[in-house]
Amino acid sequence: MNMKLLFQDAAGFAVPMLAVFAVDIATGDDAEPLPALLSTSDAVTNAAAKVMASGEFKAGMGETLLLHAPGGLKPERLLLVGLGKAKSLSVDEVRKGGGVAVRIAKLRSLRTIAIAFPEDHALSDEHLDALPGPLVSRALVEGALLADADYDTYKSDRKDTSLLTLSVVAKEAERSARAEIQEGFDEGVIVAEAQNFTRALVNEPGNVLTPTVLGQRAAAMCAEMGLKCEVYSTEKLHELKMGAFWAVSQGSPEPPALIVMTYEPVSGKSDTPVLGLVGKGITFDTGGISIKPAEGMEKMKYDMAGAGAMIGAMRAIAQLKPKVKVIGVVCSAENMPDGKSFKPGDVVTAMSGKTIEIVNTDAEGRLVLADGLHYAKTLGCTHLINAATLTGACVVALGMVNAGLFSNDDATCERFQAAVEISGEKFWRLPCTDDYRELIKSQIADIRNTGGSRWGGATTAAMFLKEFVCDTPWVHLDIAGCAWNDEVKPWIAKGPSGIAVRSIVEWVRSYSA
Ligand code: BES
Ligand code: ZN
Ligand code: ZN
Repeated sequence: MNMKLLFQDAAGFAVPMLAVFAVDIATGDDAEPLPALLSTSDAVTNAAAKVMASGEFKAGMGETLLLHAPGGLKPERLLLVGLGKAKSLSVDEVRKGGGVAVRIAKLRSLRTIAIAFPEDHALSDEHLDALPGPLVSRALVEGALLADADYDTYKSDRKDTSLLTLSVVAKEAERSARAEIQEGFDEGVIVAEAQNFTRALVNEPGNVLTPTVLGQRAAAMCAEMGLKCEVYSTEKLHELKMGAFWAVSQGSPEPPALIVMTYEPVSGKSDTPVLGLVGKGITFDTGGISIKPAEGMEKMKYDMAGAGAMIGAMRAIAQLKPKVKVIGVVCSAENMPDGKSFKPGDVVTAMSGKTIEIVNTDAEGRLVLADGLHYAKTLGCTHLINAATLTGACVVALGMVNAGLFSNDDATCERFQAAVEISGEKFWRLPCTDDYRELIKSQIADIRNTGGSRWGGATTAAMFLKEFVCDTPWVHLDIAGCAWNDEVKPWIAKGPSGIAVRSIVEWVRSYSA
Protein backbone atom coordinates (compact mmCIF):
# COMPACT_ATOMS: atom_id res chain seq x y z
CA MET A 1 0.00 0.00 0.00
CA ASN A 2 1.11 3.50 -0.82
CA MET A 3 0.83 5.73 2.28
CA LYS A 4 1.14 9.46 2.24
CA LEU A 5 0.92 12.27 4.76
CA LEU A 6 -0.13 15.54 3.16
CA PHE A 7 -0.50 19.02 4.58
CA GLN A 8 -3.41 20.68 2.76
CA ASP A 9 -7.16 21.25 2.96
CA ALA A 10 -8.83 17.86 2.42
CA ALA A 11 -11.75 19.62 0.70
CA GLY A 12 -9.58 20.16 -2.38
CA PHE A 13 -8.27 16.60 -2.55
CA ALA A 14 -9.81 14.54 -5.35
CA VAL A 15 -10.29 11.01 -3.94
CA PRO A 16 -13.10 8.40 -4.05
CA MET A 17 -13.68 8.74 -0.29
CA LEU A 18 -12.60 11.13 2.45
CA ALA A 19 -13.14 10.04 6.06
CA VAL A 20 -13.56 12.70 8.75
CA PHE A 21 -13.83 12.06 12.48
CA ALA A 22 -16.52 13.41 14.78
CA VAL A 23 -16.99 13.38 18.57
CA ASP A 24 -19.93 13.89 20.88
CA ILE A 25 -19.27 17.11 22.81
CA ALA A 26 -22.42 16.96 24.94
CA THR A 27 -21.62 17.32 28.62
CA GLY A 28 -23.58 15.62 31.36
CA ASP A 29 -24.57 11.97 31.31
CA ASP A 30 -28.20 12.45 30.28
CA ALA A 31 -27.57 15.18 27.71
CA GLU A 32 -28.67 14.65 24.10
CA PRO A 33 -25.68 13.80 21.87
CA LEU A 34 -24.08 16.84 20.29
CA PRO A 35 -21.88 15.71 17.42
CA ALA A 36 -18.96 17.91 16.38
CA LEU A 37 -16.73 17.38 13.37
CA LEU A 38 -12.97 17.23 14.01
CA SER A 39 -12.08 19.35 11.02
CA THR A 40 -10.85 22.90 10.61
CA SER A 41 -11.78 22.95 6.91
CA ASP A 42 -14.75 25.28 6.34
CA ALA A 43 -15.70 23.45 3.16
CA VAL A 44 -15.75 20.04 4.88
CA THR A 45 -17.67 21.44 7.84
CA ASN A 46 -20.24 23.02 5.51
CA ALA A 47 -20.68 19.84 3.48
CA ALA A 48 -21.52 17.91 6.64
CA ALA A 49 -23.48 20.67 8.40
CA LYS A 50 -26.97 19.48 7.53
CA VAL A 51 -26.57 15.87 8.55
CA MET A 52 -24.65 16.89 11.67
CA ALA A 53 -27.62 19.03 12.71
CA SER A 54 -30.22 16.39 11.78
CA GLY A 55 -29.73 14.18 14.84
CA GLU A 56 -29.31 11.13 12.58
CA PHE A 57 -25.62 10.85 13.39
CA LYS A 58 -24.61 10.81 17.04
CA ALA A 59 -20.82 10.33 16.68
CA GLY A 60 -20.82 7.19 18.85
CA MET A 61 -17.60 5.14 18.76
CA GLY A 62 -17.51 3.32 15.43
CA GLU A 63 -20.74 4.88 14.15
CA THR A 64 -20.51 5.90 10.49
CA LEU A 65 -22.48 7.85 7.91
CA LEU A 66 -21.64 8.04 4.22
CA LEU A 67 -22.52 11.05 2.03
CA HIS A 68 -22.27 10.86 -1.74
CA ALA A 69 -21.23 13.86 -3.86
CA PRO A 70 -20.80 16.17 -0.88
CA GLY A 71 -21.44 19.76 -1.98
CA GLY A 72 -18.41 21.95 -2.54
CA LEU A 73 -15.85 19.18 -2.04
CA LYS A 74 -13.46 17.44 -4.41
CA PRO A 75 -13.80 14.03 -2.67
CA GLU A 76 -16.57 11.90 -4.25
CA ARG A 77 -17.76 10.63 -0.88
CA LEU A 78 -17.56 11.93 2.66
CA LEU A 79 -17.54 9.35 5.45
CA LEU A 80 -18.25 10.57 8.96
CA VAL A 81 -16.67 8.34 11.60
CA GLY A 82 -17.74 8.69 15.23
CA LEU A 83 -15.14 8.49 17.99
CA GLY A 84 -17.56 8.66 20.93
CA LYS A 85 -17.61 11.13 23.78
CA ALA A 86 -15.16 14.02 23.58
CA LYS A 87 -14.36 13.75 27.26
CA SER A 88 -13.06 10.20 26.92
CA LEU A 89 -11.26 10.81 23.64
CA SER A 90 -7.72 9.38 23.43
CA VAL A 91 -5.41 8.16 20.70
CA ASP A 92 -6.97 4.70 21.08
CA GLU A 93 -10.24 5.97 19.64
CA VAL A 94 -8.28 7.54 16.76
CA ARG A 95 -6.59 4.18 16.10
CA LYS A 96 -9.94 2.40 16.00
CA GLY A 97 -11.50 5.21 13.97
CA GLY A 98 -8.77 4.90 11.33
CA GLY A 99 -9.58 1.20 11.22
CA VAL A 100 -13.31 1.80 10.83
CA ALA A 101 -12.70 4.11 7.85
CA VAL A 102 -10.60 1.46 6.11
CA ARG A 103 -13.02 -1.42 6.83
CA ILE A 104 -15.89 0.63 5.37
CA ALA A 105 -13.84 1.41 2.27
CA LYS A 106 -12.88 -2.25 1.77
CA LEU A 107 -16.48 -3.35 2.11
CA ARG A 108 -17.29 -1.07 -0.83
CA SER A 109 -14.16 -2.01 -2.82
CA LEU A 110 -12.93 1.58 -2.58
CA ARG A 111 -9.21 1.10 -2.69
CA THR A 112 -8.00 4.69 -2.64
CA ILE A 113 -9.06 6.80 0.31
CA ALA A 114 -8.05 9.78 2.40
CA ILE A 115 -8.51 10.30 6.13
CA ALA A 116 -8.59 13.79 7.59
CA PHE A 117 -6.17 14.21 10.49
CA PRO A 118 -8.41 15.11 13.47
CA GLU A 119 -8.24 18.86 14.04
CA ASP A 120 -10.55 21.24 15.78
CA HIS A 121 -10.85 24.71 17.22
CA ALA A 122 -13.96 23.92 19.25
CA LEU A 123 -12.51 21.24 21.53
CA SER A 124 -11.08 22.50 24.79
CA ASP A 125 -7.33 22.48 25.38
CA GLU A 126 -7.84 19.73 27.91
CA HIS A 127 -9.26 17.46 25.22
CA LEU A 128 -6.63 18.38 22.71
CA ASP A 129 -3.79 17.81 25.20
CA ALA A 130 -4.85 14.16 25.28
CA LEU A 131 -4.12 14.04 21.56
CA PRO A 132 -0.48 14.94 20.88
CA GLY A 133 0.05 15.27 17.11
CA PRO A 134 2.79 12.62 16.68
CA LEU A 135 0.83 10.01 18.66
CA VAL A 136 -2.33 10.81 16.72
CA SER A 137 -0.69 10.40 13.32
CA ARG A 138 0.94 7.22 14.52
CA ALA A 139 -2.29 5.73 15.91
CA LEU A 140 -4.21 6.74 12.82
CA VAL A 141 -1.90 5.00 10.41
CA GLU A 142 -1.59 1.97 12.71
CA GLY A 143 -5.35 1.58 12.87
CA ALA A 144 -5.65 1.93 9.10
CA LEU A 145 -2.92 -0.61 8.31
CA LEU A 146 -4.19 -3.15 10.85
CA ALA A 147 -7.68 -2.82 9.36
CA ASP A 148 -6.39 -3.39 5.85
CA ALA A 149 -5.39 -7.01 6.56
CA ASP A 150 -7.83 -9.86 5.89
CA TYR A 151 -7.18 -13.53 6.57
CA ASP A 152 -8.63 -15.10 3.45
CA THR A 153 -5.38 -16.28 1.83
CA TYR A 154 -6.67 -19.87 1.71
CA LYS A 155 -9.96 -18.97 -0.02
CA SER A 156 -9.69 -19.80 -3.71
CA ASP A 157 -12.29 -17.16 -4.61
CA ARG A 158 -10.63 -14.42 -2.60
CA LYS A 159 -10.89 -10.89 -3.95
CA ASP A 160 -8.07 -8.54 -3.15
CA THR A 161 -9.71 -5.59 -1.40
CA SER A 162 -6.55 -4.25 0.21
CA LEU A 163 -6.04 -0.53 -0.17
CA LEU A 164 -3.84 0.81 -2.92
CA THR A 165 -3.40 4.31 -1.56
CA LEU A 166 -4.11 5.87 1.81
CA SER A 167 -3.53 9.58 2.29
CA VAL A 168 -3.69 11.22 5.69
CA VAL A 169 -4.50 14.87 5.15
CA ALA A 170 -3.75 17.49 7.80
CA LYS A 171 -4.79 21.07 7.14
CA GLU A 172 -3.32 23.07 9.96
CA ALA A 173 -1.32 20.77 12.24
CA GLU A 174 -0.81 23.87 14.32
CA ARG A 175 -0.31 22.25 17.71
CA SER A 176 2.64 20.10 16.67
CA ALA A 177 5.46 20.58 14.23
CA ARG A 178 4.86 18.94 10.87
CA ALA A 179 8.14 17.05 11.23
CA GLU A 180 6.88 15.45 14.46
CA ILE A 181 3.61 14.44 12.88
CA GLN A 182 5.57 12.91 10.00
CA GLU A 183 7.81 11.06 12.45
CA GLY A 184 4.81 9.57 14.26
CA PHE A 185 3.32 8.60 10.92
CA ASP A 186 6.53 6.83 9.82
CA GLU A 187 6.77 4.96 13.13
CA GLY A 188 3.15 3.91 12.85
CA VAL A 189 3.80 2.39 9.43
CA ILE A 190 6.77 0.37 10.75
CA VAL A 191 5.02 -0.88 13.87
CA ALA A 192 1.74 -1.77 12.15
CA GLU A 193 3.51 -3.58 9.31
CA ALA A 194 5.42 -5.58 11.92
CA GLN A 195 2.18 -6.42 13.72
CA ASN A 196 0.62 -7.53 10.44
CA PHE A 197 3.69 -9.67 9.77
CA THR A 198 3.04 -11.38 13.13
CA ARG A 199 -0.64 -11.79 12.35
CA ALA A 200 0.14 -13.48 9.03
CA LEU A 201 2.44 -15.97 10.80
CA VAL A 202 -0.15 -16.74 13.48
CA ASN A 203 -2.81 -17.27 10.82
CA GLU A 204 -0.86 -20.10 9.16
CA PRO A 205 -2.16 -23.63 9.77
CA GLY A 206 0.01 -26.15 11.58
CA ASN A 207 0.66 -28.24 8.48
CA VAL A 208 2.11 -25.21 6.69
CA LEU A 209 3.94 -23.50 9.52
CA THR A 210 6.08 -26.21 11.12
CA PRO A 211 8.95 -25.22 13.42
CA THR A 212 11.32 -25.54 10.45
CA VAL A 213 9.19 -23.22 8.32
CA LEU A 214 8.87 -20.74 11.18
CA GLY A 215 12.68 -20.72 11.30
CA GLN A 216 12.84 -20.09 7.55
CA ARG A 217 10.33 -17.23 7.77
CA ALA A 218 12.24 -15.64 10.64
CA ALA A 219 15.54 -16.01 8.78
CA ALA A 220 14.08 -14.45 5.62
CA MET A 221 12.72 -11.51 7.62
CA CYS A 222 16.08 -11.02 9.34
CA ALA A 223 17.93 -11.11 6.01
CA GLU A 224 15.57 -8.49 4.61
CA MET A 225 15.88 -6.23 7.67
CA GLY A 226 19.63 -6.64 8.25
CA LEU A 227 19.41 -8.66 11.48
CA LYS A 228 21.70 -11.54 12.37
CA CYS A 229 19.76 -14.81 12.58
CA GLU A 230 20.72 -18.34 13.53
CA VAL A 231 18.30 -21.26 13.36
CA TYR A 232 19.26 -24.45 15.21
CA SER A 233 17.57 -27.79 15.61
CA THR A 234 17.78 -31.13 17.46
CA GLU A 235 21.57 -31.38 17.63
CA LYS A 236 21.97 -27.95 19.18
CA LEU A 237 19.24 -28.69 21.75
CA HIS A 238 21.21 -31.75 22.86
CA GLU A 239 24.50 -29.83 22.84
CA LEU A 240 23.00 -27.10 25.05
CA LYS A 241 21.36 -29.76 27.27
CA MET A 242 17.92 -28.24 26.72
CA GLY A 243 16.13 -31.23 28.23
CA ALA A 244 12.85 -29.40 28.82
CA PHE A 245 12.56 -28.03 25.27
CA TRP A 246 13.59 -31.37 23.80
CA ALA A 247 11.03 -33.29 25.90
CA VAL A 248 8.21 -31.37 24.21
CA SER A 249 9.65 -31.84 20.75
CA GLN A 250 10.51 -35.53 20.96
CA GLY A 251 7.04 -36.86 20.12
CA SER A 252 6.87 -35.13 16.74
CA PRO A 253 8.50 -36.12 13.46
CA GLU A 254 8.87 -32.38 12.85
CA PRO A 255 12.25 -31.25 14.21
CA PRO A 256 12.30 -28.35 16.68
CA ALA A 257 13.69 -24.91 15.83
CA LEU A 258 15.67 -22.69 18.15
CA ILE A 259 15.71 -19.29 16.50
CA VAL A 260 18.12 -16.57 17.65
CA MET A 261 17.75 -13.09 16.12
CA THR A 262 20.21 -10.36 17.09
CA TYR A 263 19.92 -6.60 16.74
CA GLU A 264 23.10 -4.62 17.47
CA PRO A 265 22.77 -0.85 17.74
CA VAL A 266 25.28 1.18 15.75
CA SER A 267 26.27 3.16 18.83
CA GLY A 268 25.60 1.43 22.11
CA LYS A 269 27.40 2.13 25.34
CA SER A 270 28.94 -0.96 26.89
CA ASP A 271 26.98 -0.50 30.13
CA THR A 272 23.58 -0.43 28.47
CA PRO A 273 21.26 -3.36 29.10
CA VAL A 274 20.86 -6.27 26.72
CA LEU A 275 17.20 -7.12 26.21
CA GLY A 276 16.05 -10.70 25.65
CA LEU A 277 12.75 -11.33 23.84
CA VAL A 278 11.68 -14.95 24.31
CA GLY A 279 8.71 -16.48 22.49
CA LYS A 280 6.69 -19.70 22.83
CA GLY A 281 6.54 -21.19 19.36
CA ILE A 282 4.37 -24.33 19.59
CA THR A 283 3.23 -24.59 15.98
CA PHE A 284 0.53 -27.02 17.07
CA ASP A 285 -0.46 -28.09 20.57
CA THR A 286 -2.40 -31.35 20.72
CA GLY A 287 -1.59 -31.59 24.42
CA GLY A 288 0.65 -34.60 23.74
CA ILE A 289 -0.07 -37.75 25.78
CA SER A 290 -2.27 -35.58 28.05
CA ILE A 291 -4.26 -35.01 24.88
CA LYS A 292 -6.72 -32.13 24.55
CA PRO A 293 -10.42 -32.68 23.82
CA ALA A 294 -11.25 -32.62 20.09
CA GLU A 295 -13.58 -29.65 20.41
CA GLY A 296 -11.70 -26.46 19.66
CA MET A 297 -8.37 -28.20 19.21
CA GLU A 298 -7.98 -26.67 15.74
CA LYS A 299 -7.38 -23.33 17.45
CA MET A 300 -4.10 -24.61 18.83
CA LYS A 301 -2.34 -23.62 15.61
CA TYR A 302 -2.06 -20.21 17.24
CA ASP A 303 0.04 -21.59 20.07
CA MET A 304 3.03 -19.91 18.42
CA ALA A 305 1.58 -16.40 18.81
CA GLY A 306 4.22 -15.50 21.42
CA ALA A 307 6.96 -16.48 18.98
CA GLY A 308 5.16 -14.57 16.23
CA ALA A 309 5.05 -11.48 18.46
CA MET A 310 8.80 -11.62 19.09
CA ILE A 311 9.64 -12.10 15.40
CA GLY A 312 7.36 -9.17 14.49
CA ALA A 313 8.85 -7.03 17.26
CA MET A 314 12.38 -7.75 15.97
CA ARG A 315 11.24 -6.66 12.51
CA ALA A 316 10.12 -3.28 13.84
CA ILE A 317 13.22 -2.92 16.03
CA ALA A 318 15.47 -3.45 13.00
CA GLN A 319 13.79 -0.46 11.34
CA LEU A 320 13.35 1.83 14.36
CA LYS A 321 16.99 1.29 15.39
CA PRO A 322 16.86 1.89 19.16
CA LYS A 323 20.22 2.38 20.94
CA VAL A 324 20.05 -0.90 22.83
CA LYS A 325 21.06 -4.46 22.00
CA VAL A 326 18.16 -6.87 21.59
CA ILE A 327 18.25 -10.66 21.24
CA GLY A 328 15.14 -12.54 20.16
CA VAL A 329 14.96 -16.21 21.16
CA VAL A 330 12.17 -18.41 19.81
CA CYS A 331 11.64 -21.98 20.99
CA SER A 332 9.55 -23.77 18.43
CA ALA A 333 8.23 -27.34 18.49
CA GLU A 334 5.12 -29.37 17.77
CA ASN A 335 3.47 -31.04 20.79
CA MET A 336 2.28 -34.49 19.64
CA PRO A 337 1.27 -37.83 21.13
CA ASP A 338 3.48 -40.65 19.87
CA GLY A 339 5.40 -43.71 20.99
CA LYS A 340 8.39 -41.43 21.41
CA SER A 341 6.52 -38.70 23.32
CA PHE A 342 7.42 -37.56 26.80
CA LYS A 343 4.96 -38.83 29.38
CA PRO A 344 3.36 -37.80 32.65
CA GLY A 345 5.69 -38.93 35.43
CA ASP A 346 8.85 -38.41 33.37
CA VAL A 347 11.61 -36.37 34.96
CA VAL A 348 13.62 -34.14 32.64
CA THR A 349 16.59 -31.88 33.26
CA ALA A 350 16.41 -28.31 31.96
CA MET A 351 19.40 -26.44 30.56
CA SER A 352 19.79 -24.63 33.90
CA GLY A 353 20.28 -27.99 35.64
CA LYS A 354 16.92 -27.97 37.43
CA THR A 355 14.98 -31.23 37.31
CA ILE A 356 11.30 -31.15 36.35
CA GLU A 357 8.63 -33.74 37.05
CA ILE A 358 6.21 -33.81 34.14
CA VAL A 359 2.67 -33.99 35.50
CA ASN A 360 0.84 -32.95 32.37
CA THR A 361 2.33 -32.93 28.86
CA ASP A 362 -0.16 -30.21 27.88
CA ALA A 363 1.74 -27.75 30.08
CA GLU A 364 4.45 -27.70 27.41
CA GLY A 365 4.83 -23.97 26.81
CA ARG A 366 6.52 -23.36 30.15
CA LEU A 367 8.96 -26.18 29.36
CA VAL A 368 10.20 -24.72 26.09
CA LEU A 369 10.32 -21.24 27.67
CA ALA A 370 12.30 -22.53 30.67
CA ASP A 371 15.17 -23.37 28.35
CA GLY A 372 14.64 -20.31 26.15
CA LEU A 373 14.79 -17.92 29.11
CA HIS A 374 17.86 -19.59 30.60
CA TYR A 375 19.57 -19.62 27.21
CA ALA A 376 18.86 -15.90 26.71
CA LYS A 377 20.66 -15.23 30.00
CA THR A 378 23.71 -17.20 28.84
CA LEU A 379 23.72 -15.01 25.71
CA GLY A 380 24.18 -11.98 27.98
CA CYS A 381 20.62 -10.70 28.36
CA THR A 382 20.26 -8.47 31.42
CA HIS A 383 16.48 -7.97 31.08
CA LEU A 384 13.97 -10.53 29.84
CA ILE A 385 10.49 -10.41 28.41
CA ASN A 386 8.52 -13.39 27.17
CA ALA A 387 5.21 -13.78 25.40
CA ALA A 388 3.20 -16.98 25.27
CA THR A 389 -0.29 -18.38 24.77
CA LEU A 390 0.45 -20.09 28.04
CA THR A 391 -2.67 -20.93 30.04
CA GLY A 392 -6.40 -21.43 29.66
CA ALA A 393 -6.56 -20.23 33.27
CA CYS A 394 -5.46 -16.75 32.18
CA VAL A 395 -8.39 -16.68 29.75
CA VAL A 396 -10.73 -17.67 32.59
CA ALA A 397 -9.31 -14.88 34.77
CA LEU A 398 -9.15 -12.01 32.28
CA GLY A 399 -11.26 -13.06 29.31
CA MET A 400 -10.36 -11.77 25.88
CA VAL A 401 -10.09 -8.16 27.08
CA ASN A 402 -6.81 -8.04 28.97
CA ALA A 403 -3.73 -10.21 28.55
CA GLY A 404 -1.91 -11.35 31.68
CA LEU A 405 1.16 -9.49 32.88
CA PHE A 406 3.56 -10.93 35.46
CA SER A 407 6.90 -9.66 36.69
CA ASN A 408 9.54 -10.25 39.33
CA ASP A 409 10.63 -6.60 39.30
CA ASP A 410 8.36 -3.58 39.86
CA ALA A 411 10.58 -1.09 38.02
CA THR A 412 10.73 -3.26 34.90
CA CYS A 413 7.01 -3.94 35.11
CA GLU A 414 6.23 -0.21 35.40
CA ARG A 415 8.39 0.44 32.37
CA PHE A 416 6.30 -2.09 30.48
CA GLN A 417 3.09 -0.51 31.74
CA ALA A 418 4.31 2.88 30.49
CA ALA A 419 4.92 1.27 27.09
CA VAL A 420 1.36 -0.08 27.15
CA GLU A 421 0.07 3.48 27.64
CA ILE A 422 1.56 4.33 24.25
CA SER A 423 0.70 1.08 22.46
CA GLY A 424 -2.96 1.11 23.50
CA GLU A 425 -2.93 -2.64 24.21
CA LYS A 426 -4.42 -4.04 27.39
CA PHE A 427 -2.49 -5.98 30.03
CA TRP A 428 -3.50 -6.66 33.63
CA ARG A 429 -0.90 -7.51 36.25
CA LEU A 430 -1.35 -10.74 38.19
CA PRO A 431 0.83 -11.95 41.07
CA CYS A 432 3.79 -14.31 41.02
CA THR A 433 5.21 -13.72 44.48
CA ASP A 434 6.90 -16.50 46.41
CA ASP A 435 3.69 -17.08 48.39
CA TYR A 436 2.69 -19.24 45.42
CA ARG A 437 5.90 -21.30 45.31
CA GLU A 438 4.09 -24.28 46.91
CA LEU A 439 2.16 -24.82 43.67
CA ILE A 440 5.14 -26.14 41.77
CA LYS A 441 6.75 -28.26 44.52
CA SER A 442 7.45 -31.82 43.45
CA GLN A 443 7.90 -34.95 45.54
CA ILE A 444 10.47 -36.44 43.22
CA ALA A 445 12.18 -33.57 41.35
CA ASP A 446 13.12 -29.91 41.95
CA ILE A 447 9.80 -28.69 40.56
CA ARG A 448 6.78 -30.03 38.67
CA ASN A 449 5.26 -28.57 35.53
CA THR A 450 1.67 -28.06 36.80
CA GLY A 451 0.12 -27.23 40.13
CA GLY A 452 -2.49 -29.92 40.22
CA SER A 453 -4.58 -27.27 41.93
CA ARG A 454 -8.00 -26.09 40.84
CA TRP A 455 -7.04 -22.43 41.14
CA GLY A 456 -4.26 -20.06 40.14
CA GLY A 457 -3.26 -21.75 36.90
CA ALA A 458 -1.86 -18.62 35.26
CA THR A 459 0.21 -17.78 38.34
CA THR A 460 1.41 -21.39 38.58
CA ALA A 461 2.82 -21.13 35.06
CA ALA A 462 4.45 -17.79 35.91
CA MET A 463 5.99 -19.30 39.07
CA PHE A 464 7.44 -22.07 36.93
CA LEU A 465 9.04 -19.59 34.51
CA LYS A 466 10.38 -17.52 37.43
CA GLU A 467 12.48 -20.53 38.47
CA PHE A 468 14.50 -20.04 35.31
CA VAL A 469 14.84 -16.25 35.18
CA CYS A 470 15.88 -16.12 38.88
CA ASP A 471 16.92 -12.53 39.73
CA THR A 472 17.06 -11.19 36.19
CA PRO A 473 14.41 -8.46 35.78
CA TRP A 474 11.65 -10.11 33.78
CA VAL A 475 8.19 -9.54 32.35
CA HIS A 476 5.94 -12.43 31.35
CA LEU A 477 2.98 -11.88 29.03
CA ASP A 478 0.29 -14.57 28.95
CA ILE A 479 -1.56 -13.78 25.71
CA ALA A 480 -3.73 -16.93 25.50
CA GLY A 481 -7.01 -14.96 25.57
CA CYS A 482 -5.98 -12.07 23.33
CA ALA A 483 -3.98 -13.59 20.48
CA TRP A 484 -7.04 -14.43 18.39
CA ASN A 485 -10.06 -12.16 17.74
CA ASP A 486 -13.09 -14.45 17.69
CA GLU A 487 -15.47 -11.68 16.73
CA VAL A 488 -15.45 -9.22 13.86
CA LYS A 489 -15.02 -5.68 15.13
CA PRO A 490 -15.82 -2.59 13.03
CA TRP A 491 -12.10 -1.69 13.00
CA ILE A 492 -10.35 -5.03 12.54
CA ALA A 493 -10.86 -8.41 10.88
CA LYS A 494 -11.55 -11.61 12.76
CA GLY A 495 -8.50 -13.80 13.32
CA PRO A 496 -4.97 -13.30 14.63
CA SER A 497 -4.58 -10.06 16.61
CA GLY A 498 -0.82 -9.55 16.75
CA ILE A 499 -1.16 -8.63 20.45
CA ALA A 500 2.02 -7.63 22.30
CA VAL A 501 4.07 -6.52 19.28
CA ARG A 502 3.41 -2.82 19.82
CA SER A 503 3.95 -2.94 23.59
CA ILE A 504 7.16 -4.96 23.33
CA VAL A 505 8.57 -2.59 20.72
CA GLU A 506 7.74 0.39 22.94
CA TRP A 507 9.27 -1.32 25.99
CA VAL A 508 12.48 -1.89 24.03
CA ARG A 509 12.55 1.73 22.89
CA SER A 510 12.26 2.90 26.49
CA TYR A 511 15.80 1.54 27.04
CA SER A 512 17.19 3.46 24.06
CA ALA A 513 19.29 6.02 25.94
N1 BES B 1 -1.57 -23.68 24.70
C1 BES B 1 -2.22 -23.99 25.90
C2 BES B 1 -2.87 -22.80 26.57
C3 BES B 1 -4.05 -22.18 25.86
C4 BES B 1 -5.33 -22.51 26.23
C5 BES B 1 -3.86 -21.23 24.88
C6 BES B 1 -6.40 -21.92 25.61
C7 BES B 1 -4.95 -20.66 24.26
C8 BES B 1 -6.21 -20.99 24.63
C9 BES B 1 -1.22 -24.58 26.92
O1 BES B 1 -0.17 -25.26 26.38
C10 BES B 1 -1.99 -25.51 27.78
O2 BES B 1 -2.51 -26.45 27.27
N2 BES B 1 -2.06 -25.23 29.08
C11 BES B 1 -2.80 -26.02 29.98
C12 BES B 1 -2.01 -26.14 31.24
C13 BES B 1 -2.57 -27.13 32.22
C14 BES B 1 -2.41 -28.53 31.67
C15 BES B 1 -1.87 -26.97 33.53
C16 BES B 1 -4.15 -25.33 30.23
O3 BES B 1 -4.17 -24.10 30.31
O4 BES B 1 -5.15 -26.03 30.32
ZN1 ZN C 1 -0.58 -27.31 26.04
ZN1 ZN D 1 0.41 -24.71 24.46
